[in-house]
Amino acid sequence: MVIKSFKGLLIYTAAVLAVSIVYFIYAYNTYPPIAESETFLSEIGEGFGEIGLWALLFIYARTLLKLMMGKGALAKRLLPDYSPPAAASIFERLLCYLNRTHVYVGIATVAVVLLHIVLMGTPLNNLFFQAVLVLLVWQGVFGMFLAWRYSPKELRKFSYLVHAQFVTGISLGLFSWFGHLLIDS
Ligand code: HEM
Repeated sequence: MVIKSFKGLLIYTAAVLAVSIVYFIYAYNTYPPIAESETFLSEIGEGFGEIGLWALLFIYARTLLKLMMGKGALAKRLLPDYSPPAAASIFERLLCYLNRTHVYVGIATVAVVLLHIVLMGTPLNNLFFQAVLVLLVWQGVFGMFLAWRYSPKELRKFSYLVHAQFVTGISLGLFSWFGHLLIDS
């Protein structure tokens, strides 16, 4: 079971990577390169992009910390008899803090990355950036349904399933990276 969930993630990552490489080669040879326009707004936009990247790393660090602390379904399978030592209580407190602030960090991240996209003024004609936009809105919308206290139980369950996982994160990371590569090349 343990091996299966990791194997699943690895296979998924390899598949997304393979599709991305194929599309990259196609787009690289099909579309003319986008000239970088250095405007006042795009200079500010670059800053937002950097903040967005760190915010996303911060968000997924919480998931890693949860795994490390033996919390969550995946961790329970990975470390069935694991109980964190007493010295880990500082991590426990850190995790509590990260859990409490996730909704705000999540909203800020979506907003910052959207601002980055708008301010850069790069045409969204490559599929990588279109997919990044969809995934970002996806995380935001289902995160909202998760946090909203009037969400029906079924909707909350579904939202947890599609929001609280690594799969969107892996695609977000790979697509953003290839998208930027396409612009820089
Ligand atoms: C790009 C933005 C976001 C990303 C990448 C993201 C990612 C995640 C991940 C990976 C988890 C699972 C944490 C774990 O169990 O380890 C999670 C849980 C959750 N997220 Fe988000 N999230 C984002 C935005 C949001 C937003 C905007 C909201 C609410 C408005 C939100 C609300 C929640 C809630 C309520 C949970 C479940 C409870 C918890 O684990 O704290 N998220 N999110």
